Amino acid sequence: MQFDFHSTQSIIVERGGSAHLAKRIIERGGKSVLIVTDPGVLSAGLLNKALSQFKELALSLKVFSDVQADPPVSVIDSAVKLAQECKADFIVGFGGGSSMDVAKLVALLAPGKEKLADVYGIGMAKGPRLPLILVPTTAGTGSEVTTISIVTVSESEKKGVVSPKLLPDVALLDAELTLGLPPHITAATGIDAMVHAIEAFTTKRLKNPVSDCLAKEALRLLAGNLHAAVNVGDDIVVRENMLLGACLAGMAFTNAPVAGVHALAYPIGARFHVSHGLSNALMLGPVMRFNIAQAHVMYAQLGQIIKPGLQGSTTEQASQLADYLGGLVGSLGLPKRLLEVGITSNDIDQLASDAMLQTRLLQNSPREIALTDANALYREAL
Ligand SMILES: NC(=O)c1ccc[n+]([C@@H]2O[C@H](COP(=O)([O-])OP(=O)(O)OC[C@H]3O[C@@H](n4cnc5c(N)ncnc54)[C@H](O)[C@@H]3O)[C@@H](O)[C@H]2O)c1
Ligand SMILES: [Fe+2]
Repeated sequence: MQFDFHSTQSIIVERGGSAHLAKRIIERGGKSVLIVTDPGVLSAGLLNKALSQFKELALSLKVFSDVQADPPVSVIDSAVKLAQECKADFIVGFGGGSSMDVAKLVALLAPGKEKLADVYGIGMAKGPRLPLILVPTTAGTGSEVTTISIVTVSESEKKGVVSPKLLPDVALLDAELTLGLPPHITAATGIDAMVHAIEAFTTKRLKNPVSDCLAKEALRLLAGNLHAAVNVGDDIVVRENMLLGACLAGMAFTNAPVAGVHALAYPIGARFHVSHGLSNALMLGPVMRFNIAQAHVMYAQLGQIIKPGLQGSTTEQASQLADYLGGLVGSLGLPKRLLEVGITSNDIDQLASDAMLQTRLLQNSPREIALTDANALYREAL
């Protein structure tokens, strides 16, 4: 056995902890801070508690709040420019995966030693980067513990920057920030987190006992709390379980990488601006059914965690699990088919050829996905 395991050095779980962000930054030597966030997070007032302590302690602060979902290159360029103009020496990513991914790249690129165009791919970003704290406000991507930033580089393609240099110094999990997350975002981001754990557990490359352990515990937390989080959003224990579950799933998949569901979801997000979580949720059932021949034993193991009591052979259990997870979209009130998000049969050939560009992800699939397979999988999800 041989594996390297990377994670965020310090993970703090603290209800209301975002109120003490300024103090934590001063303790770490920060003097000029840039917070990277998006307009939705800002207008929901999620930064208010944190901002009062910046004032109280007279810590120099600028807020970049122009992050867009599935961030394009232009957003990263503007945020890096602002960081350089205000001579930021400390970056905070505060929001969902989009804000955290932008913050990671700002911390890397603001020193001016590397260019975004040169760091796409695995291990291209060399650092050093500015000190970085990430504060998730969705229980979804796990970006606060991943080595990854995802950038929308064209209307058809998302690319990843993957490097241990992108792991922040601190991940701060404050479940109070997620209490007001609307039901449809809770559902979509929660399914994204479950997909991270499922794909990490069944990945063809780099699966290891630590990632397995994390993926299983993540699924116990996520599957056990997702419906409650969507239906009774203001239960702090439920929200905390979701946030921790998403974080554990992130720790798993950054070491044991995701595969086919993500590869087929990215073109949907890039071309049709369907949220990352929903894109994944729509492709989950078809891709799992496709993988059953190779992955049924692993799916059956996960089935006993996600839906205890599944009966029959491992293939039968895997198939029941795929149907259950494929049906989550409907039971959580999300669109159920690609047609409902504006995709028609005329779009399928294009989506399938876009998906073939996701070689970083496709190489991890337990069953090889060829162009004709991708085509059939999109048709099944139509
Ligand atoms: N770095 C990684 O490891 C990784 C992994 C998976 C996905 N991603 C990327 O992350 C992005 C998706 O992130 P996401 O799913 O977290 O969504 P997001 O960051 O795009 O946010 C979605 C929406 O939710 C709103 N929102 C966030 N928190 C809220 C809260 N607490 N209350 C009310 N509204 C809130 C935001 O304003 C935004 O409108 C995509 O770009 C995806 O490619 C990154
Ligand atoms: Fe994801």
